Amino acid sequence: MSDPTATAVACANIAFIKYWGNQNDALRIPANSSLSMNLDGLVTRTTVTFRPGLSADRLEINGRLAEPPALARVSGFLDLVRALAGVHLFAEVASENNFPTGAGIASSASAFAALALAAARALGLELTEPELSRLARRGSGSACRSIPAGFVEWNAGSTDQDSFARSIAPPEHWDLVDCIAVVAAGQKAVGSTEGHALAGTSPLQAARLADAPRRLEAAHRALLERDFPSLARVVEQDSTIMHAVMMTSDPPLYYWSPPSLEIMKAVQTWRSQGLPCCFTLDAGPNVHVICPAGVSAEVAARLSAMPGVEQVLQAHPGGPARLVSG
Ligand code: DP6
Repeated sequence: MSDPTATAVACANIAFIKYWGNQNDALRIPANSSLSMNLDGLVTRTTVTFRPGLSADRLEINGRLAEPPALARVSGFLDLVRALAGVHLFAEVASENNFPTGAGIASSASAFAALALAAARALGLELTEPELSRLARRGSGSACRSIPAGFVEWNAGSTDQDSFARSIAPPEHWDLVDCIAVVAAGQKAVGSTEGHALAGTSPLQAARLADAPRRLEAAHRALLERDFPSLARVVEQDSTIMHAVMMTSDPPLYYWSPPSLEIMKAVQTWRSQGLPCCFTLDAGPNVHVICPAGVSAEVAARLSAMPGVEQVLQAHPGGPARLVSG
């Protein structure tokens, strides 16, 4: 019999309402619920093959052997899948991101969504979508949102059982575009996992969390009603509240660079002049500018002309994580 193997593909996602801070770091039970859009065309493709001959897991990312910390994180995740399946074989994992290299696009969401689906399938686990989302969450919190299709809400819950994401609207619901202004990153940023653990050291995190249900509800409603002005206001506010927490944590985390701030201010000016667009930033200096598809060429052209912008990527709403073979 051939070695158990499967290949899966999953999209990255951009959060309109952010996940920052955990109730439980080990289980990645977040402090608040979040809402995101899958990014069509920005994908990770992962093949997992369990082999009787191996004495340890092996991980290749974009054709190169991964560094020990990345391997340890993937191995720890595979231990969960092995425990679920009652299997003790080590695996060979080959993962490829199609994002331009050096673009600074976070890949842990698409990576762990694709890995969860491929590893579960290779070991013959028949998981429902919520079960897969829960499993992906254990690898990277935001990965649970890359399992379902389109526009996705991750209910924070309070236990491993009730913390997972579901689709609230399919990709066809609203043709929004994420125009990602890739700006030069200075020194390497502190990663999200370390950042989540610091969220509670900011005196602003309690206020951020207290108002999170209102922001989630406003974003959810604006999305379902395709109400861009309302969506724009709450998306920008939610991003900036998260960054206020980051900047006031101990030690402080500053992810914005001077070009990021220039772009944020320009986006607000453009919107006040009638161009529908809004910004949101994750744990890095790139600015994600969300707009309706009808104006995305104009938005992308204006972003490309801004100082410090190296390239602009565009992504429409994406589908669910899917198996390619296996
Ligand atoms: C700022 O999912 O990358 O992008 O669970 O430690 O892997 P881990 O963190 P991660 O955090 C994402 C943080 C964010 C906001 C968001 O995507 O909601």
